[in-house]
Amino acid sequence: MASETGGKALEALTFDERRFPPPAEFKAKANWKDESVYAEAERDLEGFWAGHAEGFTWSKKWERVLDWRVPCAKWFVGGRTNISENCLDRHVKAGLGSKTAYHWEGEPGDTRTVSYADLLAETQRCANALRELGVRTGDRVAIYMPMVPELPVAMLACARIGAPFTVVFGGFSAEALAGRINDSGAKLVITADGGYRKGNIVQLKKNTDDAIAQTTTVEKVLVYRRTKHDVPWTSGRDVWWHDIIPKQKAECPAEQLDSEHMLYLLYTSGTTAKPKGIVHTTAGYMVGTATTHKYIFDIKPDDVYWCAADIGWVTGHSYIVFGPLANATTSVMYEGTPDFPDKDRWWSIVERYRVSILYCAPTAIRTFMKWGPQYPHMHDMRSLRLLGSVGEPINPEAWIWYHETIGGGRCPIVDTWWMTETGMILISPLPGITTTKPGSATFPFPGVRADVVDDEGKSVPFGGAGYLVITSPWPAMLRGIYGDDQRYRETYWSRFPGRYFAGDGAKRDQGGYLWLLGRVDDVMKISGHRISTTEVESALVSHPKVAEAAVIGREDPITGQAIFAFVSLRSGNEESEELSKELREHVVKGIGSIARPKTIMFTPELPKTRSGKIMRRLLRDIAQERPLGDVTTLADASVVEQIRTASAAGKED
Ligand code: WTA
Repeated sequence: MASETGGKALEALTFDERRFPPPAEFKAKANWKDESVYAEAERDLEGFWAGHAEGFTWSKKWERVLDWRVPCAKWFVGGRTNISENCLDRHVKAGLGSKTAYHWEGEPGDTRTVSYADLLAETQRCANALRELGVRTGDRVAIYMPMVPELPVAMLACARIGAPFTVVFGGFSAEALAGRINDSGAKLVITADGGYRKGNIVQLKKNTDDAIAQTTTVEKVLVYRRTKHDVPWTSGRDVWWHDIIPKQKAECPAEQLDSEHMLYLLYTSGTTAKPKGIVHTTAGYMVGTATTHKYIFDIKPDDVYWCAADIGWVTGHSYIVFGPLANATTSVMYEGTPDFPDKDRWWSIVERYRVSILYCAPTAIRTFMKWGPQYPHMHDMRSLRLLGSVGEPINPEAWIWYHETIGGGRCPIVDTWWMTETGMILISPLPGITTTKPGSATFPFPGVRADVVDDEGKSVPFGGAGYLVITSPWPAMLRGIYGDDQRYRETYWSRFPGRYFAGDGAKRDQGGYLWLLGRVDDVMKISGHRISTTEVESALVSHPKVAEAAVIGREDPITGQAIFAFVSLRSGNEESEELSKELREHVVKGIGSIARPKTIMFTPELPKTRSGKIMRRLLRDIAQERPLGDVTTLADASVVEQIRTASAAGKED
């Protein structure tokens, strides 16, 4: 063990009792090394954030830092700026035009190096093309693309002209895309012929066409050519990227937008079947993502930073696109899966680009653990100096493996807690300051206030567990749910009035360290992807043979949780292996392959309370094979026996 706390005595400790202070060498050079930053921010929260906003380009400076009327925040009130200009023009003007913004690598092995000057020129061309296609400030644009540099270009181009965009993850189905187009009222869709995944082509254009057939607002479709296979084409509506972009002027002054101008919408799962359009705005988001990125990842000018998420999720928005670009960072961007062509793909990327900072999800780490250390050991990974984790709780065992096998025992790990709604990381170690404990996201970022409360909203003393709440506003916070103010207020602000309810359980130990315990609502985390049980249930119930369905997230050693569906059929239908397959594919069609149930258990009935509510807790116990708790409220106790018999008969799957 090469950690500073190393030594034989430690081996007797369990994983989560171990302590990892910042290595002295790391601390000496860290962007923040003095913990006084916490007190400074606490003394003057607005002043703290204003200080970090100063360095950006503003065409008009803000009049007030914060206007907070629960639950509506406005940050940098009265200011005018543009995030695309701050991510691109500002750096090119400062002489960084030739600096690499992205080392891009496609799954088949093709590579591109995109400099800040390239990115600026292409963004301006794209912005001009958007205007030619009829997009005006305020119009919504849906983006459904593979992980190619044109994806950040499209986002930055929209931001440049003030057209809010909504990126839809390429793994979502046509139906999921249609729902998002309809809710946002998008006028333009930017997509590609296809993208590569595990050596196969994802049919993005075909899905887009199928989606548009269920919508009414789309006027034009801009199509980037990636895979070069034949795709369906609607002339008059569809436009090739290579026909319209290259002929545009590489100059398009950034629209100066109000601080609170809507930057993007990102749909995420809540506790109902309908995903919520989370609204993020311009200035606060820019300052929040850039500041957290710079200090949590300790970004230096010569770092090669790799966030291995997909841009379709919030992690990619904030920490592949806006945060890193705002900090003039050199990033790696990779299109495909970690096991193509072989299971050492990531480590080969780390070696070839000399990646110094790696940010990924625990699910990936657990997968690599399962594959074994021989894959990372094939490569020289001494360039790594900092590791990050995001999206779900990281179990101490995976933390230690990440630290030793990937980080060679020398890299601090930042376990970062946040959400689509928070826009930026809120809870994380600071790598030059915080002594970490494997499995704990440690403390709120300076300028962020969090608490753990009980059912009544009372702060739980150190040592206790409860619900995580955020007690004051932060710059990148969501500004609402698109078109549904009521739902915004109810979901986040009504449980504990005046405080943001995250939906996560948390424990705070005697040292004040926060340990995130997972969702307390009907949201699942499958490989770090956020999916609601109700969404999957409603997809199942939309199948003509299904009478009822109840879905729970069952603990899974690799994916964190796995989708376990209890299904009862309409009378006259037979349970069968084929039907089980058919139902799984039905869910994939409705949502996307990330939501494919791992297990389907047919059961004659679902256990319900006398008032007709499905008893999820009981189902969870059955799925986890735990002893069953109190079943006295059950309307028909024999149902449990029937499910158990079905389960014992091995009828799942
Ligand atoms: C979970 C992802 C434990 C949490 C950025 C949250 C985490 C949900 C962590 C949001 C972490 C995220 N430790 N749990 N470090 N980070 N989560 O919107 O349950 O996809 O509520 O945003 O992920 O998921 P979302």
